[in-house]
Amino acid sequence: MCGIVGYIGNRNAQRVVLDGLKNLEYRGYDSWGIASLTNNKLTIIKEVGAISEAPISLLKDPKSTIAISHTRWATTGGVTKTNAHPHWSKNKKIYVVHNGIIENYQELKKKYKIKPVSETDTEIAAHLIEKFLDLGFEEAFKKTFKLLEGSNALVAMKVDEKKIVAARTGSPLIVGVGKNEYFISSDVLGFLNFTKNVLYLDPGEMVVLDPLPRFFSLESGKQVQKRLITIPWNLSTNEKGSYQHFMIKEIFEQKKSMRNALKQNGNLKNAIIQLKKAKNIFLTGCGTASKVCLFGEYMFSKVSGKITHFTPSSEFIGKYGNFLGKDSVLITVSQSGETADVLEVIKYAKSRGSKIISILNALGSSMERISDYPMMINAGPEQGVASTKATTGQLSVMSLLAYGYANKLEEGKRILEELAGKVNDMLNPRYEERIRKIAESIINQQRMMIIGKNLNYPIAQEASIKFQEVGYQDAHAFAGGELKHGPLALVQKDTPCLVLVSDELSILNNAKEVEARGGNIIGISPKDNTIFNSWIKIPDCGLLTPIAALIPIQMLSYHMSILRNINPDKPRNLAKSVTVK
Ligand code: M6R
Repeated sequence: MCGIVGYIGNRNAQRVVLDGLKNLEYRGYDSWGIASLTNNKLTIIKEVGAISEAPISLLKDPKSTIAISHTRWATTGGVTKTNAHPHWSKNKKIYVVHNGIIENYQELKKKYKIKPVSETDTEIAAHLIEKFLDLGFEEAFKKTFKLLEGSNALVAMKVDEKKIVAARTGSPLIVGVGKNEYFISSDVLGFLNFTKNVLYLDPGEMVVLDPLPRFFSLESGKQVQKRLITIPWNLSTNEKGSYQHFMIKEIFEQKKSMRNALKQNGNLKNAIIQLKKAKNIFLTGCGTASKVCLFGEYMFSKVSGKITHFTPSSEFIGKYGNFLGKDSVLITVSQSGETADVLEVIKYAKSRGSKIISILNALGSSMERISDYPMMINAGPEQGVASTKATTGQLSVMSLLAYGYANKLEEGKRILEELAGKVNDMLNPRYEERIRKIAESIINQQRMMIIGKNLNYPIAQEASIKFQEVGYQDAHAFAGGELKHGPLALVQKDTPCLVLVSDELSILNNAKEVEARGGNIIGISPKDNTIFNSWIKIPDCGLLTPIAALIPIQMLSYHMSILRNINPDKPRNLAKSVTVK
């Protein structure tokens, strides 16, 4: 995933896009670049490194009124200045930035005899536009874009034309509408400091900003009318404020976000009606969102006695594809609403006539637009790569669906409200300090185990993702009962083992098996137990106690990351959302 920001207006364009890119750093942080124009004179900056560290002193084009820019998370070609975007054509007139993968770039390179300077797939697009320039810039862009296979978002400008041209198939692009100024970005955060008014570019569409936006269908060439939407987010939502990292800020935002997840519109009721009509219910997502689905599978079973079928999106079609039909409902979970593997399953399910319910956070995403019943968790932007407030919001909405299916929606809401209140109380500096000390006590242990049973099992799995992702910890999650079938061999003296306990006390027997082999037992539970070497207290929230366990898990992973000198907002090799397959 990468971040794109473009601007056309009367401000210092170079500065506007630099500020915008800084807010999109979560989308890519290995290199960045800006192309800006002042009276047909082009200025280019490309740097390796994180955009947040880019000094303003690098900006040397204060009178620029058009700019396109990019922060990269490398897919094709290594992390070098040459591979950083923007890329340009041979005649140095066309400049492009891109998000996605041009799957047929090798074929195009051969067919059109292009000799790129970089190793990227992107550069080919600039050369192709140049080749077709006889058609005019807009038509040449259109022809080029239609040749690109894969899921792409491409933005271009030409040195002697005062316009920005863009199109997308998969990766998102949103136009921001200010007063006599226009923006284009992969996410509203790219321009939220300037405007909250947006126009969404749908897949298969192209937009020309010159500067008034004109939208077209790539297929028919016909102009498309758009509805102006106002984003209900505040400027402060995308700032760290007094927090050192977005991750810890977003952990503390769960004071409010869990309650916000319960504010559902009519789609909740309609989704429940649809679920009741369905013969088969499937659940899918990737990474943390897939653990939310696994939690959902347990919840439907426990609360409503309905069997549902979950598998991660990358495996979904192979396992359940043949069973999707008109009488099926697919529940998908995604913070970004842009994850490529999930989108592929949605498209496949739709092609077989299934209905789609999506649990989402980012506004105006591809999934929001193609789902039958999009349900927003209302957590506000999540910028740390680690999913935190989005996870608890997703778990809350998933639980509402399970309670709703069982005709217990009001009861479900009440239990979730109570849970949100108790989580609010947990989120305080004293609690955090206690968790930080536990992080200190285990920081020298490279291996860690997490065990849970029933609804704590998906939470144990989510915990392992958190520790791996931001702590670079070799963390393994197991259903407690599985330990004796192999994993016990991993236990050595002092191996930390997090034991998630709520009402299912048999997990304590599994903890004993670990203790007997020298393991260090850290209990996360409403009640202390003699077997715990350390106890992290969580409130008793009945069936939903496992959701409360996520708070100390998130804090522990955050502090392990800090103690290891890792930036939790930018873990190595990862991007916030994976828009490529
Ligand atoms: O945007 P999505 O929720 O679809 O992203 C799915 C995963 O990539 C994501 O949950 C990932 O596992 C998180 N970074 C984990 O914290």
